[in-house]
Amino acid sequence: MERDSVIILDFGSQYSRLIARRVREANVFSEILPFNAPVEKILAHRPKGIILSGGPSSVYQEGAPHCSAEIFNLGLPILGICYGMQLTTMLLGGEVVRAERREYGKAILEVAAESELFQNLGSSFQVWMSHGDHVHRIPEGFHVIAKTDNAPAGAMCNDERKIYGLQFHPEVVHTPDGMTILKNFLYRVCGCQPNWTSASFIQEKTVEIQEEAGEGRVICGLSGGVDSSVAAVLVHKSIGDRLTCIFVDNGLLRKNEVLQVEKTFRDHFHINLITVHAADRFLDKLAGVVDPEQKRKIIGHEFIRIFEEEARKLGKVDYLVQGTLYPDVIESTSEHGPAAKIKSHHNVGGLPEDMELKLIEPLRLLFKDEVRQIGLDLGLSEDIVWRQPFPGPGLAVRVIGEVNREKLEIVKEADAIIVEEIKSAGLYRKLWQSFAVLPDTRSVGVMGDERTYAHVVALRAVTSDDAMTADWARLPYDLLERISNRVINEVPGVNRMVYDITSKPPGTIEWE
Ligand code: XMP
Repeated sequence: MERDSVIILDFGSQYSRLIARRVREANVFSEILPFNAPVEKILAHRPKGIILSGGPSSVYQEGAPHCSAEIFNLGLPILGICYGMQLTTMLLGGEVVRAERREYGKAILEVAAESELFQNLGSSFQVWMSHGDHVHRIPEGFHVIAKTDNAPAGAMCNDERKIYGLQFHPEVVHTPDGMTILKNFLYRVCGCQPNWTSASFIQEKTVEIQEEAGEGRVICGLSGGVDSSVAAVLVHKSIGDRLTCIFVDNGLLRKNEVLQVEKTFRDHFHINLITVHAADRFLDKLAGVVDPEQKRKIIGHEFIRIFEEEARKLGKVDYLVQGTLYPDVIESTSEHGPAAKIKSHHNVGGLPEDMELKLIEPLRLLFKDEVRQIGLDLGLSEDIVWRQPFPGPGLAVRVIGEVNREKLEIVKEADAIIVEEIKSAGLYRKLWQSFAVLPDTRSVGVMGDERTYAHVVALRAVTSDDAMTADWARLPYDLLERISNRVINEVPGVNRMVYDITSKPPGTIEWE
């Protein structure tokens, strides 16, 4: 099936991904390319339009990111947003200068002339501004279609060439009508059809996987998380029993997680599932180990060893399914490279190269919210689809210091209570993560008339968009009270509970 698509050139804005997601919410497929992507590469995607993102630089500064001016001669509609508008201005012969006053925050945009972009909108509306430079003189052939008090060229267009510029950000929620503007660009200017839907993706992808895998045998490591679950169900829908899933119970999973995975994938979806009960192997290897990075390494290596052993038992296997998502793909191809490594993330689940398996990555063009929708459409439960992220090394990085069965039991029970209470308060989906940590600390308490000397449990609950930064969640006091009472009363060996009020940075989300 032919699907319409739009390319977003990324000039380093924190909002580039948001633009891509908004376009997809309008049911038009979009991909992000670096600002300096060659024209042939852009055209290879057969886009119906190009969006130039915002960015932190000044277009006239030395070394500022510029795209090829050729893109304006392709006959494709172009929408420049903020920096994108300023660059359009500069490359087409207009003038950009430092604004007298930086404009940041809400502004009222007055529509100054009729244009396709502002169809179905009033004569003035609220927009979100964030710029230090502005367009001083628009390029020849353009006219101003809207202004604000601070920006005489709040928006501009060249109707004939279908090139538009917006000084404000239509992609953020603070521009309440932004979605209408983007839809006008996509549908009215670019002539896109809204044909990017979860149903069309599933249909297309199942055929593609059949073609890709041919008669080959495929394995998939299930973790219980959203991505591998959706990937597995999608591949199973496509090639049925030629898929085998391997699920390693490393003893570091949450309460009832093993049962839930087996019930979902084996009983409900009838997927060939091999559960490897390997808690002893992992815990033996972890005995006496206190260093977090050492724990991660041990768990990563052991996982790979077990996965290899199981795969070998299956005989000839050709393909490995991985739940790679679009943000990982952009990250690895972006101009700026991946962010500095603070913890050795993603080592777990990383598989040995010498297995020579070809990769099937059915989700590599999707954002997380799209994966969730596809999971729901494939029949996965809300419980799995909306699961908060869980680290590969599991509870081993939530039991501080040495990991043993007794401590794991405590952290599992406390965690189950926390999740239950957060869910019944209706906050589970609003939080990026909420979980129990078991610090390597005991404290004195009194229960009845007895003095106790028992474990402290910490509650960690954060809000975040991407885990790069996070804020501790302002949970209601009565919820904190319920959690604390229940954990101390119901989990043997715990007599004190504390709440972690550290943001990231300077803290990390996990304690180890
Ligand atoms: P931090 O603790 O670095 O975590 O703020 C950021 C996000 O990454 C998760 N995390 C991990 N995920 N393997 C993983 O697969 C790991 O070793 C690991 N360590 C942290 C963490 O849960 C949070 O969502």
